[in-house]
Amino acid sequence: MRLVYQQLLAFLAVIASVLLLLGLSFSSMTKEYVYQNTWASLEKYANSLVEQSIRVSSTNPDKVTFDSESLLNSEVLLRNQSVHFTIYNRENTAIFPDNVYTSKISKSDWQKLRAGKIVQKVSDSQLKTTSGQAEPAMTDVLKPYFYTDKNNQKHLVAVVKVGAFISNINSNIAKINANLTKALLVASVVALLLAYFISRYLTLRINRLRKATNQVASGNYDVQLTSKNRDEIDDLINDFNNMALSLQESKAEIQRQEERRRAFMADAAHEMRTPLTTINGLLEGLAYDAIPEESKAQSIDLMRNETNRLIRLVNENLDYEKIRNNQITLTKQRFNALETLQRIAEQLHQKAEASHDVLKVSGAPTIEVYADYDRFVQIMFNITQNAIQFTDEGEINILVERGYRETIFKVVDTGIGMTKEQLANIWERFYKADPSRTNTKYGESGLGLAIVHQLVLLHNGKIEVTSKTGKGTTFTIIFPDEPAAQ
Ligand SMILES: Nc1ncnc2c1ncn2[C@@H]1O[C@H](COP(=O)(O)OP(=O)(O)OP(=O)(O)O)[C@@H](O)[C@H]1O
Ligand SMILES: [Mg+2]
Repeated sequence: MRLVYQQLLAFLAVIASVLLLLGLSFSSMTKEYVYQNTWASLEKYANSLVEQSIRVSSTNPDKVTFDSESLLNSEVLLRNQSVHFTIYNRENTAIFPDNVYTSKISKSDWQKLRAGKIVQKVSDSQLKTTSGQAEPAMTDVLKPYFYTDKNNQKHLVAVVKVGAFISNINSNIAKINANLTKALLVASVVALLLAYFISRYLTLRINRLRKATNQVASGNYDVQLTSKNRDEIDDLINDFNNMALSLQESKAEIQRQEERRRAFMADAAHEMRTPLTTINGLLEGLAYDAIPEESKAQSIDLMRNETNRLIRLVNENLDYEKIRNNQITLTKQRFNALETLQRIAEQLHQKAEASHDVLKVSGAPTIEVYADYDRFVQIMFNITQNAIQFTDEGEINILVERGYRETIFKVVDTGIGMTKEQLANIWERFYKADPSRTNTKYGESGLGLAIVHQLVLLHNGKIEVTSKTGKGTTFTIIFPDEPAAQ
């Protein structure tokens, strides 16, 4: 069943039970109210009747008479209002009106009357009148009247029975009930209409969500629905929007990864093609004896170089992958920083001289660093080698200092520097700011900094770089101290 009908059905059930309850309680309340009202007015009639017509002899209080003229007048008046009355004397004999047969008051009622109670009765007894017709059902109020003598003694002097036709009362009740039914019907129609519009509104909103979900299912993650943050459906819309956003982000991430994978494959192939082409050319030359005898040794040397370059390329790539996938274990220890840096500088001394660079190491001799020794050397060696590589006739300073629970290294050169765009990419594999430098004397491949970056991250350290084209570059590498024992 469609949601809108389900909701309508639920509303209908609620409305029907509410209306039924209301109707029942209202109609019983109305009946009660109308009867109470009738009895109250009948009692008032009785009072005024007695007040107007009773005559009690002052010498003998037991002698009670009624002014028949006043009674007759009252009878005419009340008959017009469909009210009938009978007056009984204390012997339970009807003394007015005296022209019809009137039954006596029952014993139990009489007892109550003597006790001063007012009796209210609903009689539907089908008493026959003298003419043989069924007497219509009546409701009566019986009220006793007492005379108090000098000794403060109360004497029952008369009972007045005032009655109204139940049919009259019932027609009043029926009128009220008819009005009530009309009001309830109108209310239920209005409620149903309202229910219909509310459930239609809800269904429309759900359908909107459904359409958007279908769009997402068919691969369109750009959908965003507007939410007014009012109810659960709005919460659902918010969740939906978040879901669409994260799907969009992961789609973008997958695309980025795919691009990087493609670029990596292309770069790797490109890097390998040059040495392979060189080796292939030389091998063909050797095979067809196209290389003069005196150049053969040089050709073999060249081939060995290229092969080494290929091996290095493959090894470095494997190393990078291992570091990235957390497949290497670091053996961290504390060691003297300055001594290690001086050892690295010694190794690179010749290269620096070849580039006419001055290579200096400075810092307090007591400073220690907490790192994997071999990996630390690899990091600092790479960065210093880069500095020498991109600096001609300049100065390279390697500095070490202590920070707060960390050791800070700086490699400052006065070389060619880098632009902002170049800086943003140096951590990428195979990135070379100036591709024309490929295959220079160092045979660089753009893997050095990518590996350095991963290694520093593995040490929970930080690496930053600032550079200005034509002025020089500064690499800052921070190694945190051993975590304090808990
Ligand atoms: N000190 C520096 N001054 C200027 N440019 C630098 C410096 N260090 C790195 N670069 C730039 O960053 C690029 C990437 O450096 P990276 O060390 O990763 O690769 P490479 O030195 O070219 O090759 P490899 O280190 O794998 O032999 C370099 O090609 C260079 O353009
Ligand atoms: Mg390098």
